[in-house]
Amino acid sequence: MKPVTFNNTVLRDGHQSLAATRMSTEQMLPAAPILDSIGFSGLETWGGATIDSCLRYLNENPFDRLRALKKAAPNTPQIMLLRGQNIVQYASFPDDVVEAFVRANAAAGQDVFRVFDALNDTRNLKTAIDTVLACGKHARGEICYTTSPVHTIDAFVHMGVELEKMGCQSIGIKDMSGIITPKVAHDLVTELKKRVGLPIVLHTHDTAGLGATSYLAAVYAGVDVVETSIVPFANGTGQPDTVRMLALLDGHPRKPDYDTDKLQELRVHFEEVYRQLGKFTSHANERVDSDILTFQVPGGMLSNFRNQLAEQKMADKFDEVVREIPVVREALGWIPLVTPTSQIVGTQAMMNVKFGRWKVICQPAQDIALGKYGKTPGPVNPEILAAVEKQTGQKAVTCRPADLLEPGLENYRKQAEEKGLPTDDETTVLFAMFPQQVEALHKAPEPEPEKPAPAPVAAPPEPAASPEPTGKGQSMVLTIDGQRHHVLVEKV
Ligand code: CO
Repeated sequence: MKPVTFNNTVLRDGHQSLAATRMSTEQMLPAAPILDSIGFSGLETWGGATIDSCLRYLNENPFDRLRALKKAAPNTPQIMLLRGQNIVQYASFPDDVVEAFVRANAAAGQDVFRVFDALNDTRNLKTAIDTVLACGKHARGEICYTTSPVHTIDAFVHMGVELEKMGCQSIGIKDMSGIITPKVAHDLVTELKKRVGLPIVLHTHDTAGLGATSYLAAVYAGVDVVETSIVPFANGTGQPDTVRMLALLDGHPRKPDYDTDKLQELRVHFEEVYRQLGKFTSHANERVDSDILTFQVPGGMLSNFRNQLAEQKMADKFDEVVREIPVVREALGWIPLVTPTSQIVGTQAMMNVKFGRWKVICQPAQDIALGKYGKTPGPVNPEILAAVEKQTGQKAVTCRPADLLEPGLENYRKQAEEKGLPTDDETTVLFAMFPQQVEALHKAPEPEPEKPAPAPVAAPPEPAASPEPTGKGQSMVLTIDGQRHHVLVEKV
């Protein structure tokens, strides 16, 4: 039997999960050649929150990071995480912007694109996947794992079959909350291997302490690749550690052969980086916590939540609000809890407790009900939908959400030009997503290595799906990936 291989996530999910995505290119580069020499099947280095963090906090051009890492680690495929039609933001973008982003990214050296959609609506993945394939790159279609009455093994396998038909070269199981159990990991991989003729990758987090064991169960079921990181950017809310995973596989016929001296060298390097990033690390992220199994929500969401409740002077309502989460999920068609839906469900649960159930519905939750994010996994509660339609004067849409968007690339290019910015595709697609940060990056002097980069201007509130608010209402704070957004809420 073929050995299982590992993708290493330390340069993306590792520090996103454990150090608020603050690792700089400078801190990565000494490790890149060592990571490259071990024989990992991939290095996850880009996408997710890293683009935002490069621009907002590190004063770095994310494309320059990718080029530098490609040069320093030329032999191992580099992987990015792409939020389908949302690219690496929260709102939907027109097809031409998604296409330009993927093309610019492929030209800068990206090899593998992990493409996912928060609702598992494959229509939201199509443009990205088609463009990745047209660029001759590898499209890995992701299935977001969650638990609900409609998220059965059969439904996940059905999605895997569809992703294969769409041209994906591999299938990822994306367990962002770290809630997949060994038994489910085993059964899901077994069924996918039976019905999909593609390599299967399992991605989980060790938040509840299940990660490494679920990987082991998946290895027995024939999973092709699992994703690990390097201590101290591993375990807890991050991926299981590589050395730990190798020890679990000791004596197993599928154990891969990775150089443990080199892994030790990497650990020494990353211990120092972790120390440097001490301001952004926390014990809450490092520990294994079964809270997540009790509440079935991502770990990052619970910590955000405690802050939001404190701001709303509702800290004593934590249990009540958390119990409201499944009520909101069910009403909104059992949507998975992943960026950005986790924050929307959390906010709505909070409002249900604060104002009474469904008395006030936040605009992003209205947009989910109206189908503006895509097709929900289960049906939206008809009473809630009717209330939202009445309040907004809008009818639910059933088409692919991006079909409602006009092409936007040339308009963004013009806006960039008016600001005196370069008008190449790379700058234009970044500008489309992070206008103020891109402007600040191009106007800022080169950062001095000794001093921390100046904090760029805060972004304006980002509407979640629909650009214009639909009426007057109260404003509430929605925290997404640690950034605060003011959202308008309306009485229904
Ligand atoms: Co992850």
